[in-house]
Amino acid sequence: MKKAWWKESVVYQIYPKSFKDSNGDGVGDIQGIISKLDYLKELGVDVLWISPMYASPMDDNGYDISDYRAIYEEYGTMEDFKALLKEAHDRKIKILMDLVVNHTSDEHAWFIESRKSIESPYRDYYIWKNGKQGKEPNNWGACFGGSAWEYDKQTDMYYLHCFSKKQPDLNWENPRVRTEVFDMMNWWCEIGIDGFRMDVISMISKVQTYPDGEVNGGLYGNSSPFVMNGPRVHEFLQEMNREVLSRYDIMTVGEAAGVTVEEAKKYANEDDSELNMVFQFEHVSIGDGRFGKWTTKRFDLVELKRILSKWQTELKGKAWNSLYLGNHDQPRSVSRFGDDRPEYREVSAKMLATCIHMMQGTPYIYQGEELGMTNAGFEQLTDYRDIETLNIYQELTEAKLISSEEMMQCIKARSRDNARTPVQWDDGANAGFTTGNPWIAVIDNYKEINAADQVARADSVYHYYQKLIQLRKENEIIVYGTYELLNPEDTNTFMYTRTYEKEKLLVLLNFTEKEQLVSIPEEFSTGKASCMISNYENPLQKENILRAYEAVVLKL
Ligand code: NOJ
Repeated sequence: MKKAWWKESVVYQIYPKSFKDSNGDGVGDIQGIISKLDYLKELGVDVLWISPMYASPMDDNGYDISDYRAIYEEYGTMEDFKALLKEAHDRKIKILMDLVVNHTSDEHAWFIESRKSIESPYRDYYIWKNGKQGKEPNNWGACFGGSAWEYDKQTDMYYLHCFSKKQPDLNWENPRVRTEVFDMMNWWCEIGIDGFRMDVISMISKVQTYPDGEVNGGLYGNSSPFVMNGPRVHEFLQEMNREVLSRYDIMTVGEAAGVTVEEAKKYANEDDSELNMVFQFEHVSIGDGRFGKWTTKRFDLVELKRILSKWQTELKGKAWNSLYLGNHDQPRSVSRFGDDRPEYREVSAKMLATCIHMMQGTPYIYQGEELGMTNAGFEQLTDYRDIETLNIYQELTEAKLISSEEMMQCIKARSRDNARTPVQWDDGANAGFTTGNPWIAVIDNYKEINAADQVARADSVYHYYQKLIQLRKENEIIVYGTYELLNPEDTNTFMYTRTYEKEKLLVLLNFTEKEQLVSIPEEFSTGKASCMISNYENPLQKENILRAYEAVVLKL
């Protein structure tokens, strides 16, 4: 297996709107990020992926870009951005930009021109179709509710938007679109950024016949088979690789909704022809039901182990994994996969961190995860800000497909806003995030859960993450070792090994609050192995018994 700096790195994701506000307007900003670089350095992360900071009307918090070469005013200026890059580089921290090129904002100059007339030189930058018998060109639903097609009076045609109607999809079939995108990427690389996280990059190539999708219980047809991993996606990414990526020593991670192991081996092939790694979605889709992610069902551990182990084993030596349990689109990992009740919150957050950070791949930490931050779980719909949450609530309840009480329970468990509340820095007003009015409420547990307390306390979740990151730097086995799952059928515990040259690790994890008996392989039994890390002071105190959410890593 080839060695690479991006395989050995730990990435920290910043959602700028909620990270740190420096000027009291209630919205996070670039100067706020700069003020926390020392905190991040101390944590030990190597790379920051920062969610979009470009000019945007903020229909989807910046995933709707109106100018790829300008910074969103409320976040700062291009000078601020350059200062951030310099300050980060001075601390040996790299910066990944979020690249959103499946779609732009409808306020992007290209789209403003495109919609004016069918003769416009920008017309084919987007996907325009005639209606069918006065209706949409096909039955596809958009990810944020409603039809994926929006009628435009000016030319009596429809444009495609896989997300909100303010996010028209770019037409990657048009070579001019690809050239514009590659020029823009080169421009950012010349400024000195260190790579890209590529938003829904698996969706840039569409099946050109645009057929109807299957209707599975909602109101619209499923477009996934026709927009995800489409016919030309690898060709487009290979072109991007030739035109941009291969020219710089940068890191790339593609967000790849709908990706299978077979597809991932193409996107993230060791031959460097496309991207370095992808985010797969299988493990965060466990338990999805009739309305997709809108469910209150808890995950099944056997399923989680099966999925994570499949990715570990099948990509080995062929492609590279990215490791994550949470991000700005997912609920808080401790609430979803752990136990956020006060007595178990920290211990289970550390157990989950052990689970992910001991695997092969590049780990991603989502802001606040290192503090054990929990779901917001707001009771009132008026506390939510996310376009997806608000649209889907309306669509499903109006169509009487689900009651509003049930839908609120789903939202409390799965809304993206659960993880988008301000980072809790201290126990002062607004958790130290802003001196003004935060754009979304701070969770009321900030007096107990905040960075000041976490940094001050040696046994905190923060210091546990710090140790995990340090161990990865010191032990090649954690980066490159071969993974093997030991107990696929056990419904309560997760046990796996890593093997590298003459070394071996055993990872033991209890996913429940009850004591669990585990059968530790003979070679690791008492006295033979040392403990690398544990979330209890006296790990394995009772031989072969894991206490509530206990995590232990043994080393031979
Ligand atoms: C995936 C991003 O992570 C999400 O936040 C966004 O809403 C969609 N892509 C659309 O850009």
